[in-house]
Amino acid sequence: MLLGTQKINDKGHLMIGGCDVADLAAEYGTPLYVMDEEEIIAKCRAYRSALANYYGRAHAAYASKAFCTVGMCKLMNEEGMYLDVASAGELYTAKVAEFPSERIIFHGNNKSRFELEMAVAENVGFVVCDSFGEIEDLADIAAKAGKVQGVMLRVNPGVDPHTHSLIRTGQEDSKFGFNIHIGLAMKAVKAVLSHDSLNLLGLHCHVGSQLFEPTPFVQAAPIMTEFIKTVTAETGKVIEHLDMGGGLGVRYVESDNPLSVGEFVKLICDGVKAGVEATGIKMPTLLLEPGRSIVGEAGTTLYTVGAVKEVPVVEEPGRKYYLSVDGGLSDNPRPSLYDAVYTAEIANKMNEAADCVYTVSGKHCETDTLIPKTNLQKAERGDILAVLTTGAYNFAMASNYNRLPRPAVVFVSWGKSRIDVKRQTLEDLVLWDVK
Ligand SMILES: Cc1ncc(COP(=O)(O)O)c(C=O)c1O
Repeated sequence: MLLGTQKINDKGHLMIGGCDVADLAAEYGTPLYVMDEEEIIAKCRAYRSALANYYGRAHAAYASKAFCTVGMCKLMNEEGMYLDVASAGELYTAKVAEFPSERIIFHGNNKSRFELEMAVAENVGFVVCDSFGEIEDLADIAAKAGKVQGVMLRVNPGVDPHTHSLIRTGQEDSKFGFNIHIGLAMKAVKAVLSHDSLNLLGLHCHVGSQLFEPTPFVQAAPIMTEFIKTVTAETGKVIEHLDMGGGLGVRYVESDNPLSVGEFVKLICDGVKAGVEATGIKMPTLLLEPGRSIVGEAGTTLYTVGAVKEVPVVEEPGRKYYLSVDGGLSDNPRPSLYDAVYTAEIANKMNEAADCVYTVSGKHCETDTLIPKTNLQKAERGDILAVLTTGAYNFAMASNYNRLPRPAVVFVSWGKSRIDVKRQTLEDLVLWDVK
């Protein structure tokens, strides 16, 4: 499986963004997150042009939770994206990157007062309120600052996306959003409208992540447009923005078959336009918030192969091999967290037959399996293992478990590489420990 700009060169090495990964590993060390910048740019442009073609007045907001660095926020600004942030930390990263605050959407089901104060102080364009207490706090903060804060409401459409339970958010039983069906969403609309310091700009929903099935998006659109109609009928308020969230899946293994960005955007635009027509509401400005589908396939993690160990197989005759790499759970917790599956290659032996079966493991003090069973080229100590599709929710979820320094992040494009995040040092690990 080759993704984005990946190619194989005449040495049989994997190339990303025109760079030989063996050279990247030698220059920057491993583990290393390699981000294919051309692929990220292509995905942003695919979203923006599909929204322009199929809808018109619409914006794509990059969900920075997937991968948030100063360099990434700068790139998103250059690409004309809006930005979804979900914490003071992500907002601060955007601020350091000088991301225009009017294009920032601040999410979170439990924002602190500090985070709300920061959003108001930074003139964030949209705060997506997700609880009654938050609406009251935000109104108070904005009033004291003498400002009118733009607000969207996170609404729960009651759509079950049938994805992994930990990334499912749009079903009735969820910590996210004001439920429409039991009347909380309307109550929240009225709460926002009761404050002069808040300006209700729109409604938002996000049904879930890593979705291959179009049905949840198709189901959510008419529920949202119908609710907009009810809001205007009951309160007189015209809703100007409709944010349908993110969720498009990416290819982790060959058999994954996500919709293309164009197909996904068309589906949502068609659904919203049909809902607008059926209800007679004013056509809202449409927002989408892709995260994983912007950066997921752009990321590859390079590791150095260490121990290759033969073990007896109890259930069936024969032997199996553990291949351990110099990272694992700390740079990619998703296999342990979500049973996520990945594709790997011995990146310096791409032209050799992948006829050996391995369990790929990390180096942590537990069974931190990265890939339970995969066919690879024969691996030796010192080889480079590339794990594909690690651009989303890997660096973002990384930890220092076992006091492993976090890997560096490198952007590659058009044959050049540049460091985006430096590798942590051993000194960094004890920086905040009181000595
Ligand atoms: C509110 C919101 N918007 C957008 C996203 C991005 O989703 P994805 O990475 O699946 O596109 C998420 C993910 O959790 C989210 O919670």
